[in-house]
Amino acid sequence: MGPVRNIVVLTGAGISAESGLATFRGPGGLWEGHRVEDVCTPEALMRDEALVLRFYDARRAALATVEPNAAHQALARLDAEWPGQLMIVTQNVDDLHERAGAQRLVHIHGELLSALCRSCGENARFSGAMMESRVCPSCGRDALRPDIVFFGEMPYEMERIERALMECDTFVSIGTSGAVYPAAGFVQIANATNAWTLELNLKRSPGSHHFDEAREGPASRLVPEWVESVLAQA
Ligand code: APR
Repeated sequence: MGPVRNIVVLTGAGISAESGLATFRGPGGLWEGHRVEDVCTPEALMRDEALVLRFYDARRAALATVEPNAAHQALARLDAEWPGQLMIVTQNVDDLHERAGAQRLVHIHGELLSALCRSCGENARFSGAMMESRVCPSCGRDALRPDIVFFGEMPYEMERIERALMECDTFVSIGTSGAVYPAAGFVQIANATNAWTLELNLKRSPGSHHFDEAREGPASRLVPEWVESVLAQA
């Protein structure tokens, strides 16, 4: 690992697994109960809006039952103490990074605690149940939808993320299967700019071979260990 100044971290559902939030793929995964195309596509929202709103209402309600784990806390400590550039890009729509204290955070797939108005296009903080009320606080129309990036929709902040990837000298992927683009391609951008790339995952993923190093184990152990090693050389 060469000199570390500019870090990009990518997190996926695996970083929240030990907090009790189900991942998507794998035994008991969220997609096991639902077909993705039934709950996470624009067509699903048009075809069966109640099913989609209930799916996200349940995931939003579950946030009250979970806490950030040691991996979220370690990244928040890195955020607070790291003097160089840092961007934490999360594919997760939970608020565990924020609740641990992370600031330099980007939600590429949106957030459960945000709503998007299909009428005026505004985003608004939202913490209730859309099956109860979908009234937009900006325009007053009954037009809110989950502010979740569905399959086939544009991810958030891609330009800012790609710029950070081009400038980084360290890229760390935590708890993601590398199944979904564009996030699955970030390691290739980092490799192309000669960054040192590290994968932290419970087990090898289909993308492990793209990384300079792949460590296997729970995020709650691997992430604090990695953060310690980086801050020791700050
Ligand atoms: N510690 C570290 N990694 C873990 C842990 C753990 N405790 N538990 C599970 N993992 C790993 C799994 O090995 C797997 O590689 O987390 C990964 C979870 O993969 P997915 O369920 O596919 O979740 P993710 O990669 O975040 O999915 C990406 O796909 O469905 C869409 O938009 C959705 O953001 C999501 C995207």
